[in-house]
Amino acid sequence: MSIGKILLIGFGPGAKQHMSLRAVEAISEADVVIGYSTYINLVADQLEGKEVVRKGMTEELDRSIEAYQQAKKGKTVALISSGDIGVYGMAGPTYEVLLQSGWRPDDEIEVEVIPGSTALSACASLVGAPLTHDFCSISLSDLLTPWPVIAARLNAVAKSDFVVALYNPKSGRRTGQIVEAQRILLQHRKPETPVAIVKSAYREKQNIQMVRLDEMANCNIGMLTTVLIGNSSTFIEHGLMITPRGYANKYNPLTGEVNSEERRGRSLTMGLDGWQACARQYMQENPKKSLREVSNYFAMPLAQLITAIAAASADDPAGEFKAIALSTDPLTLIQKESAALGAIRAVVRSEAGAVSELMLNGANFKQRGEWLNIENEHFHLHIHWQKVAGAWMVQQHDRLYSIHFVDAVGDSVFNLSLRKTAARFDKQALAHYQQLWQQQRELVGVADE
Ligand SMILES: C[S@@+](CC[C@H](N)C(=O)[O-])C[C@H]1O[C@@H](n2cnc3c(N)ncnc32)[C@H](O)[C@@H]1O
Repeated sequence: MSIGKILLIGFGPGAKQHMSLRAVEAISEADVVIGYSTYINLVADQLEGKEVVRKGMTEELDRSIEAYQQAKKGKTVALISSGDIGVYGMAGPTYEVLLQSGWRPDDEIEVEVIPGSTALSACASLVGAPLTHDFCSISLSDLLTPWPVIAARLNAVAKSDFVVALYNPKSGRRTGQIVEAQRILLQHRKPETPVAIVKSAYREKQNIQMVRLDEMANCNIGMLTTVLIGNSSTFIEHGLMITPRGYANKYNPLTGEVNSEERRGRSLTMGLDGWQACARQYMQENPKKSLREVSNYFAMPLAQLITAIAAASADDPAGEFKAIALSTDPLTLIQKESAALGAIRAVVRSEAGAVSELMLNGANFKQRGEWLNIENEHFHLHIHWQKVAGAWMVQQHDRLYSIHFVDAVGDSVFNLSLRKTAARFDKQALAHYQQLWQQQRELVGVADE
């Protein structure tokens, strides 16, 4: 008996000239072709003499089970899917069915996945070059994915300035998801952000709309539409939607300054090795900016900025800022040293941006189990110590003498700083802080300042 084979074929957006040679060849090799009815129609001219199994939209697992059963009979079975079969396609469910049925990759039934041009690249090709920088895709179908998961992903990519491709944006029943997606994206993106709405790419009813993000949800969007949303650099010129390859147009490569005018084509020097020097130069040129303002400006966690400050040298200073990582256990340091630091200010920020500034002194610190409690008659501040992954001493001449406690991501948990009274720092407290600073320097073997 001949040995069966399963060909998982992505045939691209729809037009034959956009199918890969291997996809055409694989369909011709097949004895049986299984697919959703619309897909079968799209490759109808290649099916002569073949057994064709048309399945409905909801019969996904049936398609995979049928493919396996036919392959077990020794047939070569093509399971076809539009775009790339591995992108929101049948490759995943088929492998799941096979593995659950005891099939293994070294089984005599061979499985071949044949890639195709996915909707996002097909749609992008029709509107210009919107995907030439980092992008991601999100499906708005909440049939198998809970909406809170989709919303969290939308929020994360909107914040991170990815170009976004929305698959399954809307159907007859699912009409609210695109409205909600627009609302979330607008929290982080400008209303005029370019959006391309591409319907039935490379098919008979192809339709393209170029709109703004704040117009997106009111447009003609359906099941066969992919929505491409630009990042902060994407622009439309002469009807073409283009995302520049780099952010050189956005940041001055030397200072990190945001350019008021676009300067396309400049190379990026704000890379892993370069950005810290840019940040230090920015602090040098903007001496009144706080640590928080600078870290927001560069969109980097606070600890990353402090690392850039700690790497400063006489030739390459970070303005008036200096920093050193604490080598002593921070909790022990607080318990031992806080009393000698006199009047202290603790600053804690909520995720929503509220800032608490608490005036306290060393006597207010108490450790209870995993918690550091800072308590007096006016407030109780409870800090879960396991959240604290590191601490830094950061100072700025005559403005800031602080210890910053950061989490594993590098975001601030809280910070303590010396407080001025009558516009002056207490001499003894300051001397103690500087003594601690010197101790930390000695611990890491840095020479005296
Ligand atoms: C289940 S997903 C299948 C994706 C497919 N496997 C791919 O790689 O393109 C269906 C979604 O793909 C998008 N899509 C598929 N073909 C398209 C086309 N020709 N034009 C625009 N969007 C398309 C639509 O967003 C549609 O809702």
